[in-house]
Amino acid sequence: MDEPKVGEEPSVMSQALSKQKTLSRYVEVETWKHRELTDLQPVMRGIESACRGIATLVRRAQCDEIAGLHGNDGDMNVQGEVQKVMDVLANNILAASMCAPGKMDYVASEEEEEPTYCSAVLQNAAFQGEYAGVFDPLDGSSNIEAGLPVGTIFGIYRRPQLNLSPERERDPLEAIMQPGSKLLASGYCLYGGQTILVLTLGQGVHGFTLNKPGGDFILTQPNMRIPARGQLYAINEGSSHLWEPKVTEYVRRLKLGEGEGNVPHRTAYVGAMVADVHRVLVEGGVYAYPGTVDAPNGKIRLLYEANPMSMLVEQAGGLSTTGRQRILDLKPTGIHQRVPIFIGSKEDIKDLQALLKD
Ligand code: AHG
Ligand code: MN
Ligand code: MN
Repeated sequence: MDEPKVGEEPSVMSQALSKQKTLSRYVEVETWKHRELTDLQPVMRGIESACRGIATLVRRAQCDEIAGLHGNDGDMNVQGEVQKVMDVLANNILAASMCAPGKMDYVASEEEEEPTYCSAVLQNAAFQGEYAGVFDPLDGSSNIEAGLPVGTIFGIYRRPQLNLSPERERDPLEAIMQPGSKLLASGYCLYGGQTILVLTLGQGVHGFTLNKPGGDFILTQPNMRIPARGQLYAINEGSSHLWEPKVTEYVRRLKLGEGEGNVPHRTAYVGAMVADVHRVLVEGGVYAYPGTVDAPNGKIRLLYEANPMSMLVEQAGGLSTTGRQRILDLKPTGIHQRVPIFIGSKEDIKDLQALLKD
């Protein structure tokens, strides 16, 4: 096939796109079309390879005795959560893979208190890049021992060009302290019955399935669009006694299908955001992790969980909100800050926004 060239007619480009089948080909073509993304190619190759590697680890976790806690009694991460061996392994794989030499400046992970500079990972001070990455290396890691789905979430920012006066210090973390609306790319890998990588480079959402262990990611779900209204909701109902009354009322209306155009929703909760949001993306509906009386910001972390997922869902035609503000508009205040989140089908989320306005 002739290589498409920048500036070629859209029809030629879309023919080329329709013929591509693998993730690496898709990234190649997209980054030809959008020259500002060209340097993302090696970063995406790293992420693809990390997802392959983590998929293999997840499948072998019990046999290779890498399921279970990290450290004797379970080490804690910065958020006071017990780390699993697999959390740590997945974290190290992603950090090393995403640090494409000369492209990535630093990566910030759920499992590390501070961002890791790629120059340190690559042991070469010259390797400073224009991008910064955020990730949750293993999402839903409490599912590992039960053999249930887990995932990886990632997002990529460009370092902003700021016109700072010489006396003002440059914030080394300025790239990831931007609102999620500045994300260049985001995605997740779902390690379930199949290994699926869902990606947006800001031009729609595409799903790729790993054809065999260590093999290629094949474009299986091009142009994913979330239905405007769904029939399921994913929420930890065990905390319902701690929700604000309007959230309780919203979930009641979802169940009964009350309100104009609404339909009864069933519950479906895996307990791994990647798996739950993936189902919502495919079938429509709502994933929510609201605030509670004892944790007003809920549990989901803004930088490496809420933002990348919100970009994907919005790119697929859905909405994502704290209930009162668009998630992607929030200005981060800390690497590990948490936010309440309601994400999914446009009409389902609009119902919540209307209810909270009253
Ligand atoms: P992680 O394993 O990365 O800490 O994330 C788990 C998160 C999220 O994936 C999931 O939706 C939520 O925790 C489940 O929490 P509950 O068990 O409180 O429902
Ligand atoms: Mn997570
Ligand atoms: Mn995690």
